[in-house]
Amino acid sequence: MNTADDLKLDEEVANSWVRIIEERFAIEIDEFRLAAFTRALTSFACETGEELEGLLKLFVSGQLDEAQRAYILHLATNHETRFFRYPPSLAAITEVCANLRRPPRVLSVGCSTGEEPYSIACSLLRAGHAGFTVHGTDVSQPCIDKARQGIYRGHPDLRADVAAPHGPNRIRFHAWVRDMVTFEQHNILAERPVNFPAPDVIITQNMLIYYRVETRHLILQKLAAMLPVGGHLITGPAEDGNWNPMGLKRMPNHLLNLFVRVA
Ligand SMILES: C[S@@+](CC[C@H](N)C(=O)[O-])C[C@H]1O[C@@H](n2cnc3c(N)ncnc32)[C@H](O)[C@@H]1O
Repeated sequence: MNTADDLKLDEEVANSWVRIIEERFAIEIDEFRLAAFTRALTSFACETGEELEGLLKLFVSGQLDEAQRAYILHLATNHETRFFRYPPSLAAITEVCANLRRPPRVLSVGCSTGEEPYSIACSLLRAGHAGFTVHGTDVSQPCIDKARQGIYRGHPDLRADVAAPHGPNRIRFHAWVRDMVTFEQHNILAERPVNFPAPDVIITQNMLIYYRVETRHLILQKLAAMLPVGGHLITGPAEDGNWNPMGLKRMPNHLLNLFVRVA
């Protein structure tokens, strides 16, 4: 059983982790997620033969490899998602893509386990697009691995036009749909560029909220720089932290933040 001193030490180590995660990844872990994060991290530390404090030392001294660092970031972030989560975003993407003269290219940043990119694909298919690419990126390799399988619990809006039954209560997107939805493990704060040039639309929803306002603006500026002139950037309502972009025009939309690149 833990003594009071042990508990105090655990709390200090957990707080050090939060500080370091914030410093290194610019992610904020609030008090509501702290307990879950500490539990998950303790279990990961055990798997590597360490305790929380030992793992922290390895992390700080740069002795963890990229995959281990990425897994810690996976534990520090929230991956909640669902199909057709925010219909106004899907409507905006469909509307922008209706005016393109080539197969649309849509980038979903912070796509978690793939529900968002597949929802976009369903919307484009149902709007009559025969060809397009939706590219989902997420910092979490486990999320990307799941997304690539294209297997999910059944959902009333995932019908035979896009998916087929795959065992009890499961569906799998048809192979030809999966071919049009690609995934990449990628940290949007890293220097490496996303492997998806000239997207017509970039969407990032429910990801910026975990970052400080300055970091949100940095991420948005990076995303803006990826857009060709005429390309659109979408974030959820109130997620942009009152961003005032250069070279982009804010389009009137009271349900989301919609920007178009003008220069
Ligand atoms: C709450 S989920 C939102 C998923 C989806 N966009 C939605 O709205 O349903 C946030 C996702 O952002 C990812 N994420 C957080 N920081 C990231 C970063 N720096 N680069 C890429 N993805 C990141 C997390 O791993 C997580 O899967």
